[in-house]
Amino acid sequence: MNDWQRNVLDALVQAGLEEPQKDADRIIEVASESENPSEAAREMLERRLRGELLEYVIGRVRFMDIEMLAEPGALIPRLETEILGRGAESRIRALGVDGELRIIDMCCGAGNLACALAIRFPNARVWASDLTDGCVRVARKNVQYLALQERVKVWQGDLFSSLEGQDLEATIHAIVCNPPYISTGRLDKDRAHLLEHEPVEAFDGGPYGLTIHQRVIKEGLPFLRSGGILGFEFGVGQERQIELLFRRAKGMDSLEFDCDADGLPRAAFTRKKGE
Ligand SMILES: C[S@@+](CC[C@H](N)C(=O)[O-])C[C@H]1O[C@@H](n2cnc3c(N)ncnc32)[C@H](O)[C@@H]1O
Repeated sequence: MNDWQRNVLDALVQAGLEEPQKDADRIIEVASESENPSEAAREMLERRLRGELLEYVIGRVRFMDIEMLAEPGALIPRLETEILGRGAESRIRALGVDGELRIIDMCCGAGNLACALAIRFPNARVWASDLTDGCVRVARKNVQYLALQERVKVWQGDLFSSLEGQDLEATIHAIVCNPPYISTGRLDKDRAHLLEHEPVEAFDGGPYGLTIHQRVIKEGLPFLRSGGILGFEFGVGQERQIELLFRRAKGMDSLEFDCDADGLPRAAFTRKKGE
């Protein structure tokens, strides 16, 4: 470690950050790619010490072992979303599609699920979509950054309205969706801190936190082919309500939950019934 690198670590330790070594390693790694690493590191350090999120400061995030871009305007992809990503990956693989594999990433944010799945499946075409300008901008940058322009397209609109008129109905093998799932009431109270750095649209799931799930089940179903997969992320403790939503919505079966390291269900997968 040279002087500027040691300064980065010392400053983060002195400031009492939770994971100073991890932050220092990432700042040093990304700063080292620039022409003037010590200056780049100093600027990043200042922003980090002002309380900005590490991933926004370095402009990078790792998701499913892939280095991607992170920018304000889109949620920083979370580790728990890999439960949905990896669960979708194994179930899609089991479909054994030889020709073109068609995937929708609804509520794509930074495009992390769309890009990760496109990289895992070279025969995949992915339609990613989000409501906000910020997410569409960051997702398109990621598609470019990862050289996926030929196979991943980013659309903008309110849920599936952005994909209408493309003759996609009944052709999709899998829909993945990590929608906002915190209730508006909690965002006003104990989860208000989330809104300090990241966009409200990433979190606000309506009065019960399940408004978007409910709409995606209804609006997404026509896009799936028989046996097609629908995979969702949801919040800790929401599995009962998710089960109810699926039971009420006819047309889906074989509900499965994937859990986090503590055994808590965090992703749900169902299949579209055969005609
Ligand atoms: C929890 S974030 C997930 C982002 C990304 N998929 C990820 O895994 O990090 C939820 C996303 O849903 C988007 N969103 C919210 N309401 C939407 C709507 N009505 N139509 C499309 N996207 C929506 C938000 O803009 C946000 O990017």
